[in-house]
Amino acid sequence: MPAATKYLRREILDDAIALLTFDRPESIANIFDQPTLDELNEQLNLLETEKTLRGLIIRSAKAKIFIAGADLKGFVADPNMERIAFLIEKGQKTFDRISRLPFVTVAAIHGAALGGGFEIALACDYRVASSDPATKVGLPETTLGVLPAWGGLTRLPRLIGLQKSLDAILTGRQFPAKLAAKLGMVDAVAYPERIIDLAAGIIRKNAGKKRTLRQFAVNRPPISRLIRSEAEKTVLAKTRGNYPAQIKALEAVFAGLTLSHEESLANEKNKFIELALGKEAQNLIGVFFLRERAKKLAVDLGESSPRPIKAVKKSLVIGAGLMGAAIAQWLSARGIRVLLKDIGPSPLAKGMQSIEKLNREAVRRRIFSEIEARNAYDRIVPVYEEVPLNDIDLVIEAAVEEIELKQKIFAALEKKVSPEVVIASNTSALSIDTMAASLQHPERLVGIHFFNPVHRMQLVEIVRGPKTSARTAETALRFTKDIGKLPVLVRDSPGFLVNRILLPYLVEAMRLFREGHRLADIDGVMLDFGMPMGALRLIDEVGFDVAAHVARELERRLSYLGPLDDTLEKMMAKGWLGRKSAMGFYRYGPNGKESPNPELGGFQATAPTVQNEGDLRDRLVLIMVNEAARTLEEKVVEAPEDVDFGMVMGTGWAPFRGGPLRFADTLGLGTVASRLNNLRERIGERFAPCGLLATMAEKGDTFYPRDQVSESKADTRKV
Ligand code: NAI
Repeated sequence: MPAATKYLRREILDDAIALLTFDRPESIANIFDQPTLDELNEQLNLLETEKTLRGLIIRSAKAKIFIAGADLKGFVADPNMERIAFLIEKGQKTFDRISRLPFVTVAAIHGAALGGGFEIALACDYRVASSDPATKVGLPETTLGVLPAWGGLTRLPRLIGLQKSLDAILTGRQFPAKLAAKLGMVDAVAYPERIIDLAAGIIRKNAGKKRTLRQFAVNRPPISRLIRSEAEKTVLAKTRGNYPAQIKALEAVFAGLTLSHEESLANEKNKFIELALGKEAQNLIGVFFLRERAKKLAVDLGESSPRPIKAVKKSLVIGAGLMGAAIAQWLSARGIRVLLKDIGPSPLAKGMQSIEKLNREAVRRRIFSEIEARNAYDRIVPVYEEVPLNDIDLVIEAAVEEIELKQKIFAALEKKVSPEVVIASNTSALSIDTMAASLQHPERLVGIHFFNPVHRMQLVEIVRGPKTSARTAETALRFTKDIGKLPVLVRDSPGFLVNRILLPYLVEAMRLFREGHRLADIDGVMLDFGMPMGALRLIDEVGFDVAAHVARELERRLSYLGPLDDTLEKMMAKGWLGRKSAMGFYRYGPNGKESPNPELGGFQATAPTVQNEGDLRDRLVLIMVNEAARTLEEKVVEAPEDVDFGMVMGTGWAPFRGGPLRFADTLGLGTVASRLNNLRERIGERFAPCGLLATMAEKGDTFYPRDQVSESKADTRKV
């Protein structure tokens, strides 16, 4: 008889093999919180005394998750040393008990086994994994600013050797089953329905003999020292010293090679505590919660018994250019049929080619199989003539960025699609309200703003015009989440959220460039700050034409941004468009080689005699912070969380700083305002702190409640 418990079930199979099944009630995931660990310990009390058992299999009852890891709330809700030490010790001791069980233990992994979820598997003698795409193993802790401290950091190098362990621990990568088997992280792979048999077979075959691990030459000097110094160089180059978790994890892994198991666990624990109490971990875990928050975002429909919102099965994408094609590819790969419309065969052929290229790349990176790619491609029907649209569930317009053209497209479209259908525009910066003027039913128009490149950027801005209905906004939100993107809800306003904050920054970088500052200094200062690329490098990535277009649109609508000069236009006249033309601020050679464009000098003044790094950083960073505050002041978004989430997800804004507003809090709003005022006096009026920032600074306020990382909670907005 299975024992009746809350988070875990125990059964005894034939051959005296115990089966422990993790099954957290009312949840799609298993996680390790204190009650789950308590219950696991109770089960271990029983298992340790069962003299007749031959083995133990640990598995999960969930469809997509084995165990997702530790409950992070336990580490951030009230970050104090005693509490964190208690939780770490508890996990370590529990998993040690598993590893010391007198019989053979096997983790049968189906779904994601991450962090603590993989650490419990590592404490078993063997691991088998299902071949399901949802099955992934990994230790992502360093990406959250901490390190695997429930024995993972000690056990993995002893199982698979130093080099492979460092790759897993320092990158936080999630490994699909087959790759994990190749690396030795799991011992065998089978179809999901076969993994329990496979695990039982391993137990029978070993007939009560615990596993002994082989010795690795790479774990001993001199090779271990060489690996360490290489890894150190890579980490420092990648993190520029901004992510202490990677360095501490590297030290702990290396130390663990010569320490006893117990000493290494103590080391894991101490380093974890130091990291968990630091700002970087708190901010990175905060970003994790912001993602969870976005997944729960909803719009209050204001209906007493709301009609269900239909899932989108067939879509119309208008425009097969850069964005339209990429959106069509993304949708088709998620099972949605797409009618892809453009003005003629030639742009359609180009669009279909780029879709094929994206699919090929996804197959190469094992994101999906050849067959899945072909099926996805077949879901797209390219058209340039008028066709019936009565079975379309949702429209996304991604034609060229011209308001009259979009208005014309919508007016014609409205007559052809059924009245229920939501019409969305992917516009970067045009007004949803102005666009809606051509519609009989403006309440059905909404912005669904994808970022480029679509397959890599998870953020989507859902733009509500003043006439957009709650139902339209909620449909757009659901759709966004259904296709695996993360939404931020923004008001129809110049540049919406991300471009609004980014543009003044890019304009400032252009000003610094013209003043004669070196490319390496302008971009270097932001790389050091923690951005994924410098501002001028980003202009190359966006494309000069797109950047100039958005800049002109915002110059018209935001009085304080301009006047802008025509440097970008002049550079474009030379045929430079940024990366897509292989020439921009940088020159892009074959094999991905980048070097500064040697002809930039003609566009610059003589370099200033004094180079002040602090000034460069303040001019670039604080102009964004000020703009970020303005988006709150103007209610472009509702909460500081929206701003920070949008910037981290939409631009890679230094995640360890938690986003521009979290960063402003860390610096102190008084300091932010006084530095802005200083720049205003010395450099220009554009640095004047916005009203909200000035008032908050004066009152000694903060954007976030003090010392609190936002947790995920259901967030239903009124429209
Ligand atoms: P693009 O110039 O690459 O593609 C536009 C496509 O629309 C062309 O293939 C053109 O033939 C087609 N088109 C023009 N008139 C049409 C009509 N009446 N019916 C159907 N198709 C028509 O432009 P891109 O970059 O793809 O931009 C599309 C939209 O997405 C714009 O609104 C832009 O602001 C927005 N966007 C662009 C981003 C970017 O990084 N390029 C990022 C996010 C949004």
